[in-house]
Amino acid sequence: MDIAVIGTGYVGLVTGAGLSDFGNDVVCVDVDVKKIEALRDGKIPIYEPGLDTLVSKNVAEGRLRFTTELAEAVRAARAIFIAVGTPPKPDGSADLRYVEEVAHSIAKHMNGPKLVITKSTVPIGTGRMIEDIIASYNNGHEASIVSNPEFLREGSAIEDFMKPDRVVIGASTEEAADLMREIYAPVHSLEIPFVVTNVESSELIKYAANGFLATKITFINEIAVVCEKVGANVHDVAIGMGLDSRIGPKFLQAGPGFGGSCFPKDTSAMADISRRHGYEFQIMESVLRVNDAVKQRMIDKIADAVGGDVSGKTVAMLGLAFKPETDDMRDSPTLTIIRGLQKRGANVRAYDPQAMPNAQTMLENVTWCADAYETAEGADALVLATEWNEFRALNFERIRKALKDPVIVDLRNVYDPYRMASLGFRYTSVGRVDDRRKRVR
Ligand SMILES: NC(=O)c1ccc[n+]([C@@H]2O[C@H](COP(=O)([O-])OP(=O)(O)OC[C@H]3O[C@@H](n4cnc5c(N)ncnc54)[C@H](O)[C@@H]3O)[C@@H](O)[C@H]2O)c1
Repeated sequence: MDIAVIGTGYVGLVTGAGLSDFGNDVVCVDVDVKKIEALRDGKIPIYEPGLDTLVSKNVAEGRLRFTTELAEAVRAARAIFIAVGTPPKPDGSADLRYVEEVAHSIAKHMNGPKLVITKSTVPIGTGRMIEDIIASYNNGHEASIVSNPEFLREGSAIEDFMKPDRVVIGASTEEAADLMREIYAPVHSLEIPFVVTNVESSELIKYAANGFLATKITFINEIAVVCEKVGANVHDVAIGMGLDSRIGPKFLQAGPGFGGSCFPKDTSAMADISRRHGYEFQIMESVLRVNDAVKQRMIDKIADAVGGDVSGKTVAMLGLAFKPETDDMRDSPTLTIIRGLQKRGANVRAYDPQAMPNAQTMLENVTWCADAYETAEGADALVLATEWNEFRALNFERIRKALKDPVIVDLRNVYDPYRMASLGFRYTSVGRVDDRRKRVR
């Protein structure tokens, strides 16, 4: 099928590359001229494992190309995916201006029946809004509106797109649903479940899923606080909970709060959508409040580790991205933590294997370092903020010698507390007490 993907960011680029790999003819469109020029030169604008190979293969085989010419892409396509950003507005609602812009452009340039599919995460009712915008042009061509939310995770986006847990399709007509099955034929043949529903349910599935996952993370973060107070170990509590098949082990890792380009904005949009419909979604509102408090607790934790006051102290941050295997800094907890430390008078040194170019545009007065050892140099504490693999097996002898004081604050519970103590560190993590009793496995 001839497909246009409008918006060539994380989701648009992975979608375009994935759909072309399924055998469709895909053109990816963006207003960002530099991004399109880079892609035409074979450069991938984001760090995502495997994406470069998938893009270059499909470009070479003639099924994938890049353009800034939206009109031409719309005319040539039978199916048009909208994958532009839906960032949060200051009041927490989703900003739909890019989606609206694209809907107007599609309406202007339609030359036949089109399937118009929202891949962007959009508030419930957006599909209808797109339908109304296109209908208002009276261009004589029919647009079938479909919602097809994306569930990929940055860092494993290709695998998630190619072999998703499910494909959600919200369509108003059986014909539109059938066209979607055709586009996703290779996934369909893998016996991956397709959830076919109406547009509103599909739009809500995305927010409900992200809201639930953010709640699960927040739940374990609060359990971690209780663990610290009662002398329990959150790691063991999470294992004990997660082995219950009704709960499951994923998203039960205590840490510095959720971040990234999706959970923060989608939970606040979920709360906003609910409020606009006259209902206060109390769990979502609490999740947002608690997540802010979790990040503040991390600042206190670091301050406690250096004796209660970070003023004049130097903190070495290992990792900046909201999770490993991505360079995405959007809403990373490290932004709040670093700014909070600086506000209290701390100096911050930092290193991340991929996210530094993005972090440098968002943070000020940070000393940027080339690796973990340089970061530790002369610091009063080392903070592990993102669990990149390269931080798992550091040479701790070197780290201890580099640090001014042998203090490690592990916000990801990566290191073994006993080993750290035996290496001579004063070690703190999240929700784990210093419990020397032997664990029974
Ligand atoms: N990033 C993720 O992990 C993820 C996962 C699932 C869903 N989503 C959702 O997908 C959507 C896109 O997210 P993203 O992370 O890919 O965003 P992004 O900011 O990386 O990319 C959006 C792209 O759209 C382009 N754009 C904006 N207006 C345009 C227009 N009028 N015409 C053409 N291009 C235009 C921008 O230049 C940008 O390149 C969001 O709604 C997001 O919530 C993201």
